[in-house]
Amino acid sequence: MMKKHWQLWSVLCLGTLAVFVVIGAYWRGDNSRREIAKESLPIRKWLRVKEVSTDEYSGVLEGIRRDQLMGTVILPRVPDVPGPVVAKRSQDVGIVPPHVCGQCHAEQWSDFQQSPHLLTSREPSHESTLAKYQPPDNRVKTFHPHAWFEVIAKPSGFFQQLHIEYQGQSYLHEARMDLVLGSGKVGQSFLSWTKDALHQLPVSYFTDGARWGHSPGSDFAGDNFNYARPITERCLDCHATWFERVPQTLNRFSRDDFQLGVTCSRCHGSGREHVEYHQAHPNETDPHAIANPAKLHRDLAVAVCAQCHSSEAELVSTGFRYQPGEPLAEYLVQAGADTEVENSIPDPHAANQQRRLENSACFRQSDMTCFTCHDPHRNERGREKLWVERCLKCHEPEDCHQRKLTGEAVDRLCIECHMPLVEYADIRRPGQDSMPIPKMRDHRIQVWPETTANVLQRLSKSQPEASKVGVKSSRSR
Ligand code: HEC
Ligand code: HEC
Ligand code: HEC
Ligand code: HEC
Ligand code: HEC
Ligand code: HEC
Ligand code: HEC
Repeated sequence: MMKKHWQLWSVLCLGTLAVFVVIGAYWRGDNSRREIAKESLPIRKWLRVKEVSTDEYSGVLEGIRRDQLMGTVILPRVPDVPGPVVAKRSQDVGIVPPHVCGQCHAEQWSDFQQSPHLLTSREPSHESTLAKYQPPDNRVKTFHPHAWFEVIAKPSGFFQQLHIEYQGQSYLHEARMDLVLGSGKVGQSFLSWTKDALHQLPVSYFTDGARWGHSPGSDFAGDNFNYARPITERCLDCHATWFERVPQTLNRFSRDDFQLGVTCSRCHGSGREHVEYHQAHPNETDPHAIANPAKLHRDLAVAVCAQCHSSEAELVSTGFRYQPGEPLAEYLVQAGADTEVENSIPDPHAANQQRRLENSACFRQSDMTCFTCHDPHRNERGREKLWVERCLKCHEPEDCHQRKLTGEAVDRLCIECHMPLVEYADIRRPGQDSMPIPKMRDHRIQVWPETTANVLQRLSKSQPEASKVGVKSSRSR
């Protein structure tokens, strides 16, 4: 009797265990099982299409992740009600388009047209998007065997399509690429209007490899087809000159009043009064009503750049209204401003050059600002010689003790050793292993022994003679 019971119990227990193992595999996302389940269902049965408002967005995304639902299309839902009247327009603030400034400042304007600042947000065109729109280059695979994205150019514009084809049935969703973000050093992302709301599109362009791929960040990871990531004001604040957000909304903006590119007004103040005054007084040579960062107190001069180059920061008030010369703290709360943690970069891609630089001896023991080294009007990419010249504004090559050992071979490599290229590892987000990590120059200028060792090693491979440690070249003392 006892034995029988025992046998029954063990059968029951094993049975339950087996059920749990199956469920467990299912919950762990054993996709092959789910694939089988799906194979027998028509597309309309397994494909989920969710329309979400910005309020629901995070919750829905979280739910999809948790439940590992495959084949979920997430589309934005934007209410029809027109938002409350927009508070201020660019005209009221006196924002001037850059070509108007160019009428009197031809030199700055001509340089500026190639500047990453101007090019950082644009309307899409074959010039502003670096991408290829021909098959097969315009296709992006997904985890899902029957679904892919396609990026296409039509006479009416540029579009990102989601195609799902399965057992003779098909699903298509198409969204227009309305704005391009990024000059293209690392890549470009694309935004789309739904009514007056802005969302990021699921496919981005990556310069490395010249390819289309899934947009960076966990929102686009995994197996969802996401057209609903809201674009917040802060994103535009760093990448544009003017957008007016509809009050009490996260991502609704005035569609007929924005200015793309980071232009003159962001660093010199809105400028209309300056323009009108000098148009009316053509012989006046004293500047009227305009800020020149070079004439500001150093903290305020650095603040002009720190609007966008101090990484994660929270908007207190709309950043678009900041005028150079004002304390930044009234607009932004900067992360870690009162802590020693200077390298925590929750933001996916923008480093905190301000904080790193401010902790360098160069900065602390001189009156250096950001534009001691950078001309923000120009495109200075790939001009290695320039950076050495900038160091030599204040240093002699002989100041570098390393030079006594290695000779002048190090003369053109100052930044390789003292401002190493670093990957900000903590910008890698969970679930997005393939996200490219942009390497940036560490603005903490100091002696980095490990970096030096690497540079010397590279040097001795490429120029075995010049760099033998201890061998001085003829000109070094
Ligand atoms: C009608 C001609 C005119 C226009 C348009 C104009 N400026 Fe000026 N700007 C001047 C003159 C004149 C000066 C004084 C002489 C000089 O420094 O070149 C000046 C000086 C400046 C200075 C130097 C200020 C200083 O204190 O050193 C800056 C910066 C400047 N302008 C920016 C701008 C910006 C930004 C715009 C567009 C919003 C603009 N200007 C549009 C005529 C103009
Ligand atoms: C704190 C300011 C800031 C915010 C917020 C920000 N960015 Fe950026 N972004 C930058 C800076 C600065 C760079 C250039 C990288 C660098 O030099 O640090 C950049 C680079 C980029 C690039 C690559 C540009 C290139 O030429 O390779 C893209 C694309 C981009 N950002 C998109 C976005 C999107 C989309 C958002 C919002 C969802 C956003 N950024 C939010 C400041 C910002
Ligand atoms: C990203 C910030 C930024 C943008 C955008 C910008 N400037 Fe400047 N501008 C500066 C800084 C910083 C200085 C001071 C540079 C220095 O003295 O080394 C400056 C200086 C100037 C000067 C004074 C030059 C002199 O020799 O004294 C003029 C004029 C000027 N800018 C015009 C413009 C115009 C016109 C535009 C738009 C086409 C523009 N700037 C866009 C940051 C900017
Ligand atoms: C309104 C935001 C904003 C302000 C203000 C701003 N920047 Fe930028 N800056 C950006 C963005 C966004 C990028 C990335 C552009 C891209 O490649 O798409 C950038 C890129 C740069 C780069 C890299 C250029 C390259 O070759 O890729 C330098 C250097 C730079 N900024 C310096 C400055 C300096 C110096 C100032 C202050 C005088 C300044 N910026 C002010 C937003 C800003
Ligand atoms: C001592 C010189 C120096 C100073 C001062 C300086 N930078 Fe740089 N910066 C560099 C060099 C060198 C590079 C790398 C340029 C390249 O490789 O094309 C760089 C690159 C950048 C870039 C491109 C992304 C990156 O990090 O590689 C940005 C953005 C930037 N600087 C912003 C700033 C800002 C903002 C300040 C002021 C807080 C500043 N820089 C001060 C030398 C300087
Ligand atoms: C505006 C002037 C200025 C510029 C430009 C400048 N430095 Fe410096 N730097 C200083 C001063 C001042 C010190 C502190 C005194 C000293 O050590 O010579 C310093 C210190 C240093 C140190 C020693 C740091 C330490 O922690 O002991 C290094 C290394 C250095 N600089 C490298 C560079 C490099 C590389 C560049 C160019 C990318 C550069 N500097 C640009 C002014 C400058
Ligand atoms: C191969 C790597 C390397 C290159 C390239 C290099 N340095 Fe250095 N630098 C070092 C090292 C290592 C030290 C510290 C040497 C020591 O103290 O024994 C140093 C020291 C310095 C110091 C003095 C720091 C102090 O202790 O006060 C300055 C300033 C400096 N370098 C500037 C420069 C400049 C400017 C250039 C370009 C002309 C340059 N370095 C190129 C590796 C390098």
